[in-house]
Amino acid sequence: MILYFTGTGNSMVVARKIADATGDRTLSLTEAAGQDLSTEKVVGLVYPCYDFNTPPAVRELVARLCISPDAYVFIIVTCGAQTGNSIWKVRRLLKQKGVSVAYCHKIRMPDNSATIFGRNPNEQLWKLEKYASRMEHIIDDIKAHRHGSHFGAPGLVGSLLGLPSMERKILGSFKPTVDPDRCIGCGLCAQVCPMGNIVVDGKAAIGDRCTVCIGCLHACPQQAITTGKPFPKEHQYHHPDIQIQDLRNR
Ligand SMILES: Cc1cc2nc3c(=O)[nH]c(=O)nc-3n(C[C@H](O)[C@H](O)[C@H](O)COP(=O)(O)O)c2cc1C
Repeated sequence: MILYFTGTGNSMVVARKIADATGDRTLSLTEAAGQDLSTEKVVGLVYPCYDFNTPPAVRELVARLCISPDAYVFIIVTCGAQTGNSIWKVRRLLKQKGVSVAYCHKIRMPDNSATIFGRNPNEQLWKLEKYASRMEHIIDDIKAHRHGSHFGAPGLVGSLLGLPSMERKILGSFKPTVDPDRCIGCGLCAQVCPMGNIVVDGKAAIGDRCTVCIGCLHACPQQAITTGKPFPKEHQYHHPDIQIQDLRNR
């Protein structure tokens, strides 16, 4: 079973590619949390790096997973450039359940947060080609149930940014808001939100469980959702192998 968490599809596509190659199934972490996965012999986790760390929501969901200590468990982190400390807290959470992670790797993909900083993630599509062979290598390793970590020890920058107060401050500053004048109430934002945190009643309203995946910003056909400053339609991104409507986190 390959579990994923995604805002714009990068991690979902990686999970699907691994599942296609291994004959396994994919499931969103949101759906998997709380389910009994103890009969699964292979459990993969695929999620993005946020702020040099694991998204808080991923940690919450992993804490609720029920996995056998005998399973072959792997983690693949998708990132724009630097994964920092994005596996350590998850490894620790699993260790507390008696589960050890056999294999960890990372893969660079278009940085969906570039939009927040006024840059266009679609100008980074070259990464998908550049790191395609890395993907094949990862799949080979997983098929052979190889062990190994391609992450260094926790670094100072990641540790500082991962302090709860810092994490709240940084991710909090990216929290999206809806411009009611632009919103047409289509509900696409609510559909892609992995947290089930958006309610649409004529207009979209974002609740207080946002984990800043920014999937809603990238999905909104009206560009009605922003982190403060407007951004052009051409800066909206989702992985090119999927349609925005395919994003299913729940
Ligand atoms: C709030 C936020 C913070 C991010 N922080 C980092 C980071 O620290 N390092 C990095 O390389 N990429 C970072 N990214 C980029 C994502 O990790 C990357 O684009 C990932 O592949 C997105 O996966 P998804 O499409 O499955 O959501 C960040 C993205 C978001 C939304």
